[in-house]
Amino acid sequence: MTRVLVAYATRFGSTREIATAIVHELISSGLEAHAAEVNSALNPDDYDAFVIGSPLYGGKWLVAAGMFAAFTSERIDGKPVALFSIGTLGLRNSEAGEAEHREFVKSLAEVAPRLNIVGHSVFSGYFERSNLPWYLRIVDRFAPTPQGDHRDWSAIQAWAKSLVPEFTTPS
Ligand SMILES: Cc1cc2nc3c(=O)[nH]c(=O)nc-3n(C[C@H](O)[C@H](O)[C@H](O)COP(=O)(O)O)c2cc1C
Repeated sequence: MTRVLVAYATRFGSTREIATAIVHELISSGLEAHAAEVNSALNPDDYDAFVIGSPLYGGKWLVAAGMFAAFTSERIDGKPVALFSIGTLGLRNSEAGEAEHREFVKSLAEVAPRLNIVGHSVFSGYFERSNLPWYLRIVDRFAPTPQGDHRDWSAIQAWAKSLVPEFTTPS
């Protein structure tokens, strides 16, 4: 049975719940899957496919997630990898949100050219204004991001389901 690791980084927890939703969808599609926060103790040899995700902060993934993707790429010999970003920029400007995610994936692929990226997507996250540092709160006043939980569970589930053939078809 295909074993999938859904590895994520998070600062405030919203990405952890998204990783869990992805795991549920993969399991209900017949795969073996589990979610874990990125850390160096995870052994890539234990898995056949990977989903790696992070929230965007200042246009970039959390460092731990990017490092995990780059280091893992050297040890997984072309096994399929899907990437997801979480963010709230797209709530005000969907093109900008998509562009920010694509730009990050592009730069990750440059530093980790051996990553076999079979899919990637960006999803809306959970925006809590009080988590912004004071200077970003001032910037946010000019074009406020809607406060609250914007996670689209159906879109997340549909994306996870779309990965199943990528993870189960021998390359
Ligand atoms: C300080 C700060 C910076 C952020 N920067 C971005 C960003 O550059 N792009 C984006 O789309 N979302 C940005 N966000 C929104 C977060 O990605 C979003 O709240 C996400 O759900 C947080 O995930 P976490 O709960 O797993 O840490 C930012 C949020 C904060 C508090």
